[in-house]
Amino acid sequence: MMDWTDRRCRSVHRLLTRRARLYTEMVTADAVVFGPRERLIGFEDAQHPVALQLGGAEPQRLAEAARIGADFGYDEINLNCGCPSDRVQSGRFGACLMREPALVADCLAAMVAAVRIPVTVKCRLGVDEQDPRAALFGFAAAVKAAGAAALVVHARKAWLEGLSPKDNRAIPPLDYPLVYELKDAHSVWPIVLNGGVASLEEASAHLVHVDGVMMGRAAYQNPELLLGVDPKLFGEAPPVADIFAALEAFMAIVAEGLERGERLHDFTRHLHGLFAGRRGARRYRRILATEAIRRGAGLAVFRAAVAEVEREPALAAAE
Ligand SMILES: Cc1cc2nc3c(=O)[nH]c(=O)nc-3n(C[C@H](O)[C@H](O)[C@H](O)COP(=O)(O)O)c2cc1C
Repeated sequence: MMDWTDRRCRSVHRLLTRRARLYTEMVTADAVVFGPRERLIGFEDAQHPVALQLGGAEPQRLAEAARIGADFGYDEINLNCGCPSDRVQSGRFGACLMREPALVADCLAAMVAAVRIPVTVKCRLGVDEQDPRAALFGFAAAVKAAGAAALVVHARKAWLEGLSPKDNRAIPPLDYPLVYELKDAHSVWPIVLNGGVASLEEASAHLVHVDGVMMGRAAYQNPELLLGVDPKLFGEAPPVADIFAALEAFMAIVAEGLERGERLHDFTRHLHGLFAGRRGARRYRRILATEAIRRGAGLAVFRAAVAEVEREPALAAAE
């Protein structure tokens, strides 16, 4: 998610679950090919499994960007066909590609030929006046035939005219049954459902119908939720005993970043949503919002913020 799931955010998410697959922000193929690569797509080994999401609509450029991503060590390359922002449309990529399955298939084929890792696609149910069933099923058939290893479906349409990107994540209604139907039509090909999944219990319910669930805002806004992924969805022990142990480990990563001249806020900005429902959460957030943003703020500020939080969750927040 752009501006959200950067390298630092993914570091803390990976401390909370070994099994969930993490995704980068969308990076355009042009940026990967011509931009400052290490800054844009560099990541630590500890983050695997992690997918690089690309934006673009030019087969050879995407193939080259995919190759670069594979050389960086990504486990998957994902092509964005779901982003509705104007900037993206003017570049003729993102959700408007739902109208051009043949072009997307050409992109996929070039990317698949360029790398050995899986190449996947993320899409919507359709755009604007498209009939969602026809658009989604036709699009899916085209990318599957071109070699897509899986399809992630954000289970709502995008309105390219008249809705902001934010509204496009809330206003077009979700249609989960259509995604289940798509899965029924592709028994072996992996289909991942995305959109509005707010808890691991909801994720489990979807997993009866589809192969995977992608959680965006819920995971970002309440990262502690990720601590339940390994035990509840994979039947494995969580990587750390609790969120405080994860934050202790994250402090070491933050310290390295501070030594490199990065700012505390670059790390802590991803953690404002933590601790909702716990006593002290408001003081924690206030310290992050007022002190951690100052240039030169050190780890002591982060520690002081966390120290404000009571370790036992309030009853209302306990699962
Ligand atoms: C701030 C923000 C940035 C996003 N950036 C991307 C992106 O770069 N690529 C993408 O495929 N989806 C992006 N999305 C959409 C999410 O991946 C997801 O499809 C959408 O929010 C619905 O899922 P959710 O209800 O679990 O959040 C973004 C969403 C938000 C809120």
